[in-house]
Amino acid sequence: MRKPIIAGNWKMYKTIPEALNFVQSLKPLVVASTGCEIVIAPPFTALKLISLRLEGSNIELAAQDVAAAEGPGAHTGEVSATMLEDAGARWVIIGHSERRQFYCETDDSVNKKIQSAIKAGLTPIMCVGERLEERDAGRAEAVVAEQLAGGTRNLTVSEGARIIVAYEPVWAIGTGRAATPEIAAQMHAFIRSKVREIFGDPIAQETRILYGGSVKPDNIATLMDQPDIDGALVGGASLEPDSFAKLVNFREDR
Ligand code: PGA
Repeated sequence: MRKPIIAGNWKMYKTIPEALNFVQSLKPLVVASTGCEIVIAPPFTALKLISLRLEGSNIELAAQDVAAAEGPGAHTGEVSATMLEDAGARWVIIGHSERRQFYCETDDSVNKKIQSAIKAGLTPIMCVGERLEERDAGRAEAVVAEQLAGGTRNLTVSEGARIIVAYEPVWAIGTGRAATPEIAAQMHAFIRSKVREIFGDPIAQETRILYGGSVKPDNIATLMDQPDIDGALVGGASLEPDSFAKLVNFREDR
């Protein structure tokens, strides 16, 4: 059984007071939610204080990126996996399309970051997804296959078992135009078949594959009904406690 994950990616939103207010409002709304793992990914600056506020709760903490280098070392501006773990994060988003598009992230750096994260005991959420022109050119699966192969290069099977994959078609992120359940379902099945090729069937059966891109309270249920969709990575709709709680509780609320 793959326990669903609902993860909120806050991107570059929320000061520390705003982040603490969010957590205070969210906690009672999800205190009885047992159907999924609940993860929030605030900016680096809020991690430690939020982790203290989350102690004893059912909400877990992710960072939005990690240094490729293990460190410690001379890497001005970077934050190592060990530092994230020290700040209370247990998960980390790696290879988000915004980082690939605007901050020179490559499959090679994704691969190094995944290795650093796993060594520090963090659970990597590895993002993959094609751009609109790639889908229009019929290359969506080829692009995602290449990102998966590059990002997982040289990982052992036991390292592979630690990875969460997030399929986030770039054209669906922040556009209000989520992938249809059919498109998402097809790509998720494809991703699972690739994980099977890379790490074998037992890992493929267990790997949780999240969908991301304009997930909202009104479309999460149909997406989550697809057999290979094991959760959601959510940007915009994760920023308000009420809408994030609706995503977490989508089954209970039905
Ligand atoms: P969105 O972002 O939900 O605002 O589309 C998703 C993401 O970037 O992870």
